[in-house]
Amino acid sequence: MTEREICKRLREAGIEDPSREAALLLAHFCGRTSPDFEGIDYEDKRLQKAVDARCQHTPLQYLFGEWPFFRQGYLVSKDCLIPRSDTEILVEEAIKVLPESAYFADLCTGSGCIAVSTLAERVDTSCVALEKFPKTLDLAKKNAARNQVEERFFPLCADLLTKEGVEKLAKKAPFDAILSNPPYIRSSVIPTLSDEVQAEPHAALDGGEDGLVFYRAILSLRNLLRPGGRMLLEIGYDQAEAVTSMAKEAGFSEIRVIKDYGGCDRVVSLALSQT
Ligand SMILES: C[S@@+](CC[C@H](N)C(=O)[O-])C[C@H]1O[C@@H](n2cnc3c(N)ncnc32)[C@H](O)[C@@H]1O
Repeated sequence: MTEREICKRLREAGIEDPSREAALLLAHFCGRTSPDFEGIDYEDKRLQKAVDARCQHTPLQYLFGEWPFFRQGYLVSKDCLIPRSDTEILVEEAIKVLPESAYFADLCTGSGCIAVSTLAERVDTSCVALEKFPKTLDLAKKNAARNQVEERFFPLCADLLTKEGVEKLAKKAPFDAILSNPPYIRSSVIPTLSDEVQAEPHAALDGGEDGLVFYRAILSLRNLLRPGGRMLLEIGYDQAEAVTSMAKEAGFSEIRVIKDYGGCDRVVSLALSQT
């Protein structure tokens, strides 16, 4: 298969930027580092399989099996949400505001990207990383090991939406902070998303009828925080008002909304008073 043929197949399948993706596929599977002008025919079977899968709109990240996030590299699979650059805003804030030697929880950890990148940058901290699905949590553990933070990364398999799950987490409390990028898309919106996003686990996307189910559950955990404890929650671009008003009701005294680099509301930063 030549680069031109790959490009043509991707274009016909409706892939948005076929030349860029053809170049990325060739670089990943055939180690090609500069464009070829001789129409080389690449025979690699893995490349052929990947092009077929990409034409079915499997995300490129799943085909590569790894993806960068913040300053670290992550294994990714169909068992986890692909780490998004928007989520780096939450990590940047965590690195800044976590107190010295902070012990924090990362709820809905997925690939572990929030927990692992924070631990990698703040070597004085440690973290309980909670995830409902064992296979996903296994991936997070591998990512902790891959980025040399496994000694400060404590995985916890638990369902945040059940009493038993919350009790498991409560046994690990109190925390200096709770971080989370929970599922926050309204259930009815999911079928309208791109094929690529729909190839990600629905459990990683679905925030219930109003998209806010997980925020209610997480904000109700404020008693697991130490006095002065913090929560940093990623939100959808249109959820700041709803989440900040729920946070006020939950008794947080400091409430801030942080925008992403695209100018959209992205993280709600909350703190309890010191007393
Ligand atoms: C939006 S993804 C975030 C993953 C990762 N933290 C990130 O930022 O890329 C949400 C994660 O929550 C997990 N999850 C879904 N329902 C859950 C539940 N009831 N309890 C705990 N985790 C859950 C999903 O499996 C998924 O890994």
